[in-house]
Amino acid sequence: MTKTIAVAGKGGTGKTTLSALIIDYLARNHKGAVLAIDADPSTNLNLALGVPLYDTVGDVREETATAVGGRGDLAGMSKWDYLDLRINEALVEEMAFDLLAMGRPEGPGCYCAANNILRTSVDRLSDAYDYVVIDNEAGLEHLSRRTTQDVDLLVIVSDPSLRGIIAAGRVAELVDELHTAVGDTYLLVNRVNGEELPEPLTRAIEEHKLKLGGLLPADPAVNELDALGEPITKLPLDSPMRSKLEAFLTSLNGGL
Ligand SMILES: Nc1ncnc2c1ncn2[C@@H]1O[C@H](COP(=O)(O)OP(=O)(O)OP(=O)(O)O)[C@@H](O)[C@H]1O
Ligand SMILES: [Mg+2]
Repeated sequence: MTKTIAVAGKGGTGKTTLSALIIDYLARNHKGAVLAIDADPSTNLNLALGVPLYDTVGDVREETATAVGGRGDLAGMSKWDYLDLRINEALVEEMAFDLLAMGRPEGPGCYCAANNILRTSVDRLSDAYDYVVIDNEAGLEHLSRRTTQDVDLLVIVSDPSLRGIIAAGRVAELVDELHTAVGDTYLLVNRVNGEELPEPLTRAIEEHKLKLGGLLPADPAVNELDALGEPITKLPLDSPMRSKLEAFLTSLNGGL
């Protein structure tokens, strides 16, 4: 059974950073085969993980629309097989995990047949892994569009601000309206200074019925790695930020 973990939330709150650290946690602890999905068109999960990226699912879609246009360079392959093959080529295979970037989203004048085949391909690919970790772009529409897969664990990331918590509450509400079934939803408040949140934030979390998974400290080392273009996976294993995140992951029902 594949466990799907989706990371969502307002822009710039730390989704990509946390996705990369979750992937690294699963890989380091040999939890099974891990597929990282970068669902943000700006594709920077690979940088956070320190791996190269050549092709995205969006590129495959564009290229197929041209190739299937009739020049016969599919060499007798069905469109289905061709797309499957190309998705596998777009997959970045590393020792500890594989990475697939979705790239640019389906536009309004979409190639619907290709999209459906691609979605099925990605879903089928996901089935072959023990864990799928999805780094989402800010906003949520794609959670419903990208994949038909259910989400076992949704991590909503917020900064320690009232606006951030309200935005997180909206994400949780939106998820309720999606067709995607979500097992468990937790809020992680990131870049926190000190051990506690100010009272108004705690109250807002309660009012929005958000389940608080943990407070992750602001850590200058995180920012520094990002500024230097270094993978976040270089963050020391005993850094407070990593420790707090991993404490949350191990505290989950039966662990991850
Ligand atoms: N705990 C932390 N302490 C210090 N800096 C952090 C922390 N978490 C994230 N950052 C920094 O905040 C910035 C935004 O992080 P990140 O790119 O992970 O956010 P995001 O939610 O993925 O953004 P976007 O919505 O643009 O995709 C980065 O510069 C990152 O290094
Ligand atoms: Mg991001």
